[in-house]
Amino acid sequence: MRGGLSKTAAIIAKTRGSGIPALFVDAGDAFFERKAFGADEAVGERRRAQAIADSYRAMGLSAQFTGPLDDALGPDFRRSLRLPELKAGETRLLEAGQWKLGLVSGTTAAELSAGAAKVRSGGARFVVGLFGGAPAEAQRATGMDLAVAAQAPETVGAEWEDGRLLRGPVPVAQVQSRGRSVLRVDVSPGPEGGTLQLARGQGDIEREFSAAGQRLELLKRELGTPGLSAERKRLLDARLHELVQRREQLAAQAQATALQPGTFAVRFVAVEAVLPEDPSVQKIIADYDRDVSQLNLAWAKEHGEPCPPPARGEPAYVGNEACRSCHPDPFAVYEKTGHAKAYATLESVQKQYRLDCVACHVIGFQQAGGVCRVDQVEDRKNVGCENCHGPGSVHVADRTRKSVVRPRPGPSVCVGCHTPENSIHFDYATYLPRVLGPGHGAGNSTTTRR
Ligand code: HEC
Ligand code: HEC
Ligand code: HEC
Ligand code: HEC
Repeated sequence: MRGGLSKTAAIIAKTRGSGIPALFVDAGDAFFERKAFGADEAVGERRRAQAIADSYRAMGLSAQFTGPLDDALGPDFRRSLRLPELKAGETRLLEAGQWKLGLVSGTTAAELSAGAAKVRSGGARFVVGLFGGAPAEAQRATGMDLAVAAQAPETVGAEWEDGRLLRGPVPVAQVQSRGRSVLRVDVSPGPEGGTLQLARGQGDIEREFSAAGQRLELLKRELGTPGLSAERKRLLDARLHELVQRREQLAAQAQATALQPGTFAVRFVAVEAVLPEDPSVQKIIADYDRDVSQLNLAWAKEHGEPCPPPARGEPAYVGNEACRSCHPDPFAVYEKTGHAKAYATLESVQKQYRLDCVACHVIGFQQAGGVCRVDQVEDRKNVGCENCHGPGSVHVADRTRKSVVRPRPGPSVCVGCHTPENSIHFDYATYLPRVLGPGHGAGNSTTTRR
């Protein structure tokens, strides 16, 4: 959602613009990340799914495999989104220029084989199986050219090319969750008859392509180093741009090196942050952004409840000000860190009422003494002392060392918020010294703690 969808739309629009007949298919589980939601979350999730469905329509979606997560708000809601659904066991024939593409779906090899036979007899020249089971099982199916493992947990095995492509009688491509990349399949049908062959990579181009990819990762890593000078950042940004463009050129080159008739090629196109966005999808997402905050705020005002009290003998969150009188020194260090302005950061992008954002930008989200409604945050704004040291009510009352939940918080505490998704470059050794200093911790301690 954070730009990924409108970038994907731009990738698809560009492909269509090249004049090759192109189809866009979704492998499922695009709407939700979990199987169930609380009443407070459902408000925003519903609006989000609608925005995704609208974006898909704008992108000309041909079919969507129904995944197990797609029913998180119930089958009626899913159907109300009016997308061209393809449920397990169903098949579809799609027109691509003068050819027919057969789509089959299923959770067993037998289901895929039966579907493939059906679409072949309907004239399909290329058959893709959208598969909900284990990749190895998909390889047992017959009549398919390519299987897409859509919802199996991501397998990364040594025999997987790029970590995501398994060659064999039925090649299997594994799509990534959360729209991190688009699976592009180029098909050169050739004369009638038989399944098509997966083309081999084109030596030099492939090698330069993957080398550029590695350099890209290194650059992104450096870009994520905290405390980078603005000048250095501009320089790295420019280089990043160049590399992404170079990779696109290489990809286009590889794609253009005419596929032998009777073969097809598979490529994972990374949805890079610097790629252009599609304005129509951008607008759908911007409308969603505006609506969801208003919906969440209205819901909180009407139905919001304060956090439940702590269980007997358990500590509750009390907020930073309760620590200041006895520990004035750490404040001077803390107040210079990003943690002390984490809520303002959310406000600056108008996401402070978003349940999927506020959790890591306030003190004690959905915990006793913390934040349980987005309209009442007051003195629990920002990442506070207790996000690292644990809820402090018992300690404030007894002032002993042993009542501090986490006297020396370690990496496991940080990665609760510094997840790969929200802090891709997090590295404990480089990040820790930036939150410590004279008056708060040793400042250079990187010993592993829990
Ligand atoms: C009424 C005074 C008081 C308040 C308020 C207070 N503390 Fe303490 N804190 C202490 C004392 C006393 C110690 C023990 C110092 C010692 O033994 O060296 C301590 C120790 C600590 C330690 C170090 C533990 C260790 O093993 O070295 C941490 C961390 C800590 N407090 C965090 C907090 C946080 C966070 C808050 C606010 C929620 C807070 N304190 C509020 C008095 C207070
Ligand atoms: C409750 C969630 C949370 C926890 C726990 C947390 N952080 Fe953070 N951290 C954040 C957020 C949010 C920001 C961004 C603040 C901003 O800029 O608005 C941030 C920013 C930072 C930054 C600033 C990055 C920069 O570019 O300057 C550093 C350094 C950092 N955290 C280190 C740590 C370390 C080390 C730990 C563990 C000891 C930790 N954090 C624990 C949420 C958390
Ligand atoms: C799982 C915890 C978590 C969630 C959820 C989260 N953030 Fe953050 N956010 C962080 C951390 C950690 C950082 C600091 C990243 C760093 O510097 O490495 C951060 C930094 C930021 C920053 C400042 C740095 C930047 O990227 O420009 C913004 C803005 C931000 N978050 C907005 C959001 C929004 C908007 C959402 C909801 C869509 C959100 N965050 C959800 C943990 C989170
Ligand atoms: C990002 C996580 C984080 C936040 C936020 C944080 N601390 Fe700490 N704090 C630590 C770590 C890590 C240590 C241990 C440092 C070390 O190894 O010496 C520590 C140590 C301490 C100690 C032990 C004595 C010392 O200085 O080493 C006290 C007291 C303390 N913190 C109080 C606070 C108070 C008060 C706040 C809020 C103003 C706060 N901390 C915010 C991570 C944090």
